[in-house]
Amino acid sequence: MTGLGFKRWLRVGLVFGLSCLLLFGFGSLNSSVSGVKKTLTVVTEPTFAPFEFQSGGKLLGFDIELVNAIAAAAGFKVRYQSMPFSGMIPALQAQSVDAAVSAMTITEERAKTVSFSRPYFKSGLGIVVRANNQDITNFESLKNKKIAVQIGTTGADKAKSVPGAAIRTFDDTPLALQELLNGNVDAVIHDQPVLLYAIKSRNIQGVKVVGQLLTEEYYGIPTPKGSPNLKLINQGLTKVLANGTYAKIYTKWFNHAPPSLPEKLPFQQEAVQPSGSAIFTSISIILRSLPFLLQGALVTLEITALSVVLGLAGGSLLGIVRLSPIMPVRWAARAYVDFFRGTPLLVQIFMIYFGIPAVAQELGFTFTFDRLVAAVMALSLNSAAYIAEIVRAGIQSIDPGQAEASQSLGLSSVQTMRYVIFPQALRRMLPPLGNEFIAMLKDTSLVAVIGFEELFRRGQLIVAENYRAFEIYAAVAMIYLCLTLLSSQAFSWLETRLNPIQQLKVKVGKM
Ligand code: ARG
Repeated sequence: MTGLGFKRWLRVGLVFGLSCLLLFGFGSLNSSVSGVKKTLTVVTEPTFAPFEFQSGGKLLGFDIELVNAIAAAAGFKVRYQSMPFSGMIPALQAQSVDAAVSAMTITEERAKTVSFSRPYFKSGLGIVVRANNQDITNFESLKNKKIAVQIGTTGADKAKSVPGAAIRTFDDTPLALQELLNGNVDAVIHDQPVLLYAIKSRNIQGVKVVGQLLTEEYYGIPTPKGSPNLKLINQGLTKVLANGTYAKIYTKWFNHAPPSLPEKLPFQQEAVQPSGSAIFTSISIILRSLPFLLQGALVTLEITALSVVLGLAGGSLLGIVRLSPIMPVRWAARAYVDFFRGTPLLVQIFMIYFGIPAVAQELGFTFTFDRLVAAVMALSLNSAAYIAEIVRAGIQSIDPGQAEASQSLGLSSVQTMRYVIFPQALRRMLPPLGNEFIAMLKDTSLVAVIGFEELFRRGQLIVAENYRAFEIYAAVAMIYLCLTLLSSQAFSWLETRLNPIQQLKVKVGKM
């Protein structure tokens, strides 16, 4: 860069920096001028009717109306942001948001990382089963049964205490309930008011709530530890409780008068997070979770291997069919490739796992999916589309003169493909196949949505318990990296193995 150019850039930089400073200065000045309300970012997961849900693009529910009332009473504005329930505590901990309203139960464990407002709702866990189920009548009869829960909830915690139960965790409540409707699990443990509302007012038929409430819980509004907004929220809440607004909102959503609420939390809440030696705790957290994560890595490898073998078989066939002289056949293969390449894998997984059993039930027969089968099916159907293109490209890259030559030597077209074209094409296909394998290895993380406990899901499960998002996801990323590096190493080795010239060099070297 010339001296002149540098000076010009320096000037532009200075002007830009100064204007930013001015803008920011004004911004903060503005908000501190009295009369201008401050805006709090509040996260919510709107799939939890009647507390928070979306209808016609609008955010509705008891929690939302309550927070709006609190904001009006305490004099602040609210900006809602949608976020998965299991991500809320880590987000509050990172101070990237100001509060959460999501029917979150106040627990002592959570209160170690966030600060809760005073209780605003009395709730408890319940059990829901299919209407024709006779053998589950209470908590004890859940023994050895399959239970679906939402990740990171108190329901998920409770399910862990059922002896011999197979627990499946889902990202949100509708998915857990769908799992019950599809007959893949025997019961769902979740917040009773939500279960009752789902049965009464939503489109969920064929299920019933059984037994008594399993727990008594209180919901609170969590804020980051030491947040100055907590006082504001508590003041607002106390006001709306006293002036009758709370009772009005409550009766509107639950058709009866509210029960009385305790004023305080049932335990002492620390104002700041207890800190230990940061690096030391991080390392020990990672080490403790490693065995559980590595088991997940094995599952990841297992689904990858199965899907690659099936995808390779299907993809090779499709790739050859794509070159068929018969037009309709060629077009059918093309349509397959276009569909599976042109729609997101995540959507395909949902369609297969949740969609097919639901359609089957509508048609009058019961059909449930084993999760491994569904996961491998989705991954191999998808990768077959990509592999088909790799195979086609590989075959087409071989000079047509070779086919002519082998046919003139008297080889049949199958023999030509098997002995002359394919072995050469395979070598050219290896690098893109390696890419596909690595892509597939990483894409297996998507099957976490059907509750499959592979590597990524196991990471999520640990974070849902200890809220150490950074350490755990870093460990998960490292394990994925090791797996992909190992696979690319394996592919390089294969490439050398299949390269006749390299092989010759090796042999000559040995002589
Ligand atoms: N009350 C339960 C808990 O705190 C479940 C809350 C789930 N909320 C939601 N918006 N999905 O664990």
